[in-house]
Amino acid sequence: MIRSVDRLDGDLPEQLHRLYLEEWWTHRRGLDDVRRMLDGSDVVIGLVDEDSERLAGFARVITDFVYKALVLDVIVDKGYRETGLGARLMDELIGHPRLEGVLHFELYCRPELVPFYERWGFTSDLGELQFMRRGASARPPTRPARSRSSRAGPRPARRGRAGPVSTQSPGVPLGPGPGAPAGP
Ligand SMILES: CC(C)(COP(=O)(O)OP(=O)(O)OC[C@H]1O[C@@H](n2cnc3c(N)ncnc32)[C@H](O)[C@@H]1OP(=O)(O)O)[C@@H](O)C(=O)NCCC(=O)NCCS
Repeated sequence: MIRSVDRLDGDLPEQLHRLYLEEWWTHRRGLDDVRRMLDGSDVVIGLVDEDSERLAGFARVITDFVYKALVLDVIVDKGYRETGLGARLMDELIGHPRLEGVLHFELYCRPELVPFYERWGFTSDLGELQFMRRGASARPPTRPARSRSSRAGPRPARRGRAGPVSTQSPGVPLGPGPGAPAGP
């Protein structure tokens, strides 16, 4: 059984740090910074395997709880992928009681993950909005680690306010441009 937790206690921050070391956009993160990041995140979801107490998945949100909720660091441990945990993380974030009524959920991702997030009503069709960043960026691998386009058939949006993201209020510009980082 996999249980959901809304904070990472015990050795779960260390386990999250180990997950980060596996991903190209987070592999430089240090444990102390990861702890501070957890303290500074507004909504955190961990998926813990009750048999092993292993952190199987993680995602977090930074939000003002009214207009914007930025989904970040959606990660499933490699040993648990393709078992529905990524979808469970997204279901729990989009349906999270503290995020009910937030106008826009936003994220950024590599192009190959667009079909995954479209399932929850995310769209990259945001007109001329551009993703911008100040500060050093990690470079994506030259070849994506995996491509799941063959399994990415259309499916209706899931629950919550998961309709297409409006462009009426340009907050965090979205849409992966060239060299855009993968990790939300
Ligand atoms: C992306 C990620 C979170 C997906 O997690 P997962 O547990 O393997 O996904 P699930 O098993 O819940 O898959 C749910 C559905 O999404 C589909 N899917 C999974 N990964 C996908 C991808 N990369 N592209 C398109 N569809 C994908 C699955 O086929 C499945 O479809 P189905 O319901 O029709 O069978 C996981 O691959 C991961 O941690 N990747 C590395 C970190 C990363 O890149 N995170 C995203 C940052 S933007």
